[in-house]
Amino acid sequence: MIAWRVRGNFAAMTHSERIIILDFGSQYTQIIARKVREVGVYAEIHPYSITQEALTALAPKGIILSGGPSSVYAEGAPIPSVDVFAQGVPVLGICYGLQLIAHQLGGSVDKAARREFGRAMLTIDDFSDLFKGLDTSTQVWMSHGDHCTSMPTGFERIAHTENAEICAIRNRERRIWGVQFHPEVHHSVDGKTILKNFVIDIAGCSPTWNATSFIDNAVAEIRQRVGSGGVICALSGGVDSTVAAVLLHRAIGDQLHCIHIDSGVMRMGESANIIEMFRTHFNMSVDLVDGSELFLSRLDAVSDPERKRKIIGNTFIDLFEVEAKKFSDAKFLAQGTLYPDVIESVSTKGPSATIKTHHNVGGLPETMNLQLIEPFRELFKDEVRAVGRELGIPSWFIERHPFPGPGLAIRIPGAITREKLDVLRQADEIYLHEIRQAGLYNEIWQAFAVLLPVQTVGVMGDERTYEHVCAIRAVTSTDGMTADWYHMPYDVLARISNRIINEVRGINRVVYDISSKPPATIEWE
Ligand code: XMP
Repeated sequence: MIAWRVRGNFAAMTHSERIIILDFGSQYTQIIARKVREVGVYAEIHPYSITQEALTALAPKGIILSGGPSSVYAEGAPIPSVDVFAQGVPVLGICYGLQLIAHQLGGSVDKAARREFGRAMLTIDDFSDLFKGLDTSTQVWMSHGDHCTSMPTGFERIAHTENAEICAIRNRERRIWGVQFHPEVHHSVDGKTILKNFVIDIAGCSPTWNATSFIDNAVAEIRQRVGSGGVICALSGGVDSTVAAVLLHRAIGDQLHCIHIDSGVMRMGESANIIEMFRTHFNMSVDLVDGSELFLSRLDAVSDPERKRKIIGNTFIDLFEVEAKKFSDAKFLAQGTLYPDVIESVSTKGPSATIKTHHNVGGLPETMNLQLIEPFRELFKDEVRAVGRELGIPSWFIERHPFPGPGLAIRIPGAITREKLDVLRQADEIYLHEIRQAGLYNEIWQAFAVLLPVQTVGVMGDERTYEHVCAIRAVTSTDGMTADWYHMPYDVLARISNRIINEVRGINRVVYDISSKPPATIEWE
């Protein structure tokens, strides 16, 4: 189960129409939100324990109850704190959500039923609302242990499968629907139509949410929240913080103070390029703070990955606080945090256990004097890219691969030194240049080099060498949550290896990482 961090009030954006998804811990919850947004309706995820006050403030047009790993009968099973069926808006329960409907309203759920995972054929009994426009049978994706064996009074069955006699139910009068399968998952072939039927036809939302409406809403929200105060934007040079800065600049103009901190663990020439791009392309001024001495001294001899991340996160915040004091009007700190950053950083147990502390979330001290503005907290990377394009950011920049806040520090396992950083910068530069030259950059979601703390024997000319191994990694992904290693053409690999070994002093061996996520992560630390 996800342990939810208290949200900044920015999460409640001023969208006129929104669907609220209550999270019961399913690994697919975020995909529901994303699929609903793809249909053109703004959706936000909130914990199942949301208070009545918070839910009322959000004024949803419909509520979706997510799946979850629990059984409704289990001790401590997640049960919403509010009466979701008394909110006066339609409710759709998915998997655990359906079981909750049955359990809470007087039906029954079979604890001992056969577990069912994977594809199933759904036979539709009623086409009038949730399944409008579908054929008689359609493939759906199942992932559950329990299932509903008798419906609560007032409910009727609207679909079944061979294994699940009651696979979809409805109470039209009370406007409650429930499905045992996962419409949000790609393998449920008509899943998007089902979600669309719920959010548009049943909940009555209009499909107006897109990058433009997101920008309009965000601009209005930022102006309202910020008033005449100043906002400091932590500009890392990555896509997320850049799009955030341009969005904020559109909203509040000169009230935005952009600061780029050179952490000393950036790629080659990166800081200078960032400053230059903002000045020339966006006509925005950016203050450059050279923090490299401070970062590198604090990182000296530190080899534990989580400590590195925490040190970097805290050092960023420390420096920002110093900078913030220079702007006496500054009350806010803007960051380009994405939904996957939030989910990977805040969880403490269960299926979403803490994997890595993302510097832009986990390192944040409780005592920070600035309030956070995170306009993309609910979004995935490709949604932020769409927002960026709409804001006029050129595509060569928008398509840049993600670069993590802790930078090259998490691409040098073990302790970091200036020398190692220099070696890695050169290798990384060659690697990225070659994949661009080969026209592969946009096929790859993220590519980078890693300098291993391992030395191996080689021979160059007639000399014995004893130098470092460089690992190169390239992955394909849609959101960074899962990833596959990229099947790089051999000739490109050969060129990269040849150039790195010949041109970079300190590396005599190159290896290619062929691990997918999971079980590996994308970064090495
Ligand atoms: P992992 O290594 O967790 O990475 O599979 C998933 C994606 O997140 C990026 N990443 C980060 N981004 N701050 C960030 O802004 C961080 O601390 C951080 N750590 C990892 C990583 O590059 C990949 O795209």
